[in-house]
Amino acid sequence: MSAVEIVQVDLADRRYAIHVGAGLLSRAGDALADLVSGRKVAVVADETVATLHLPALTQSLQGVASVVHTLTVPAGESAKSMDGLADLLDRLLALGIDRRTVVVALGGGVTGDLAGFAASIALRGLDFIQLPTTLLAQVDSSVGGKTGVNTRHGKNLIGAFHQPRRVLIDTDVLDTLPRRELLAGYAEVVKYGAIGDLGFFEWLEANGRRLIDGDADARRHAIVASCRAKASVVVADEREMANGPRALLNFGHTFGHALEAMAGYDGTLLHGEGVAAGMVLAARLSARLGPCTGQDAGRLAAHLAAVGLPTELDQIDGRRQWTADQLLDHMTKDKKARDGRIVFVLLDRLGRAVVRDDVDRSTVRTLLDRPQAA
Ligand SMILES: NC(=O)c1ccc[n+]([C@@H]2O[C@H](COP(=O)([O-])OP(=O)(O)OC[C@H]3O[C@@H](n4cnc5c(N)ncnc54)[C@H](O)[C@@H]3O)[C@@H](O)[C@H]2O)c1
Ligand SMILES: [Zn+2]
Repeated sequence: MSAVEIVQVDLADRRYAIHVGAGLLSRAGDALADLVSGRKVAVVADETVATLHLPALTQSLQGVASVVHTLTVPAGESAKSMDGLADLLDRLLALGIDRRTVVVALGGGVTGDLAGFAASIALRGLDFIQLPTTLLAQVDSSVGGKTGVNTRHGKNLIGAFHQPRRVLIDTDVLDTLPRRELLAGYAEVVKYGAIGDLGFFEWLEANGRRLIDGDADARRHAIVASCRAKASVVVADEREMANGPRALLNFGHTFGHALEAMAGYDGTLLHGEGVAAGMVLAARLSARLGPCTGQDAGRLAAHLAAVGLPTELDQIDGRRQWTADQLLDHMTKDKKARDGRIVFVLLDRLGRAVVRDDVDRSTVRTLLDRPQAA
């Protein structure tokens, strides 16, 4: 049997373990026996993931759980809506669930956020297990307890903190993930190195390609390092205080969210692609302000470009239709902006990030107009 590593999220009475290894989905019955044995389980999966990976999971859970129900939701961001939530809750209740029922989310961040939010409010809170199937969900959204849905006023504006009871990460499920989605998740992996761990960043420079090409050990190593990094900020700042350590996870996201908004959430720019280009902008802004050097910013851009992520605004479709001021307006409206001041996560150096809300708007505008100029 291949190696399984465990990362603990040390949240007192809400502590849980993240198991990472190859082939875990078909061994889920064993890995989750203490949580599901003799209980009803409702597995929520999107249609794409259900076709690919649900049979292995249900087969493993049957015989351990008292009954395994499956509920599918449409694939894609639009499932994460108030209508999608109402529909999912209705179908959960129709199953005759009780307080001991366990909700299992099998899928990417959309499924995890939606099913997790449903679990947080159904019968005032059900146990919830995450089985993330995208790299983004494995290194980011499945850990930390943020759940929710989008509204026409913006993304993730309605939700709850509801920590999972366990996270089971099967590195093999990434074999079926489209390469573009895999790379988008890889941007978040690079983020952990850039904000807090130069050694990990250097490991990624040397081994990132192996991970992307499917090496199970490289995947496990990178996912474990990422989950450790996320777990440590979540433990220090479970509910994201205004100036808390969790804010550092937004490195690249102030720019990235604005790029996503300008691109129009139509699939032309994935979240992780916006974050990749956003991290490069944030690093270049850091180099302009110091003490971060241009070499550090260049090194980050070089690694992201080497794996095939966008690093320059000109690589983003539709770029010519929007101006620096439009991007700045989006950043000012970001829910993390404070009194109209944009909050940036910048680098002191590669491997150490800081939060800044005192960056001059004109400096940012010049950067967006001429990203590479000194
Ligand atoms: N809760 C958090 O802390 C947090 C953090 C980051 C992002 N998010 C949320 O996560 C969402 C994005 O997550 P995502 O990128 O995983 O998107 P997603 O869940 O939409 O998955 C992306 C696509 O990949 C498909 N897919 C998933 N796993 C697959 C597999 N193994 N093989 C083949 N196809 C597969 C899905 O069907 C979907 O079409 C956003 O809604 C974002 O707001 C939440
Ligand atoms: Zn992100």
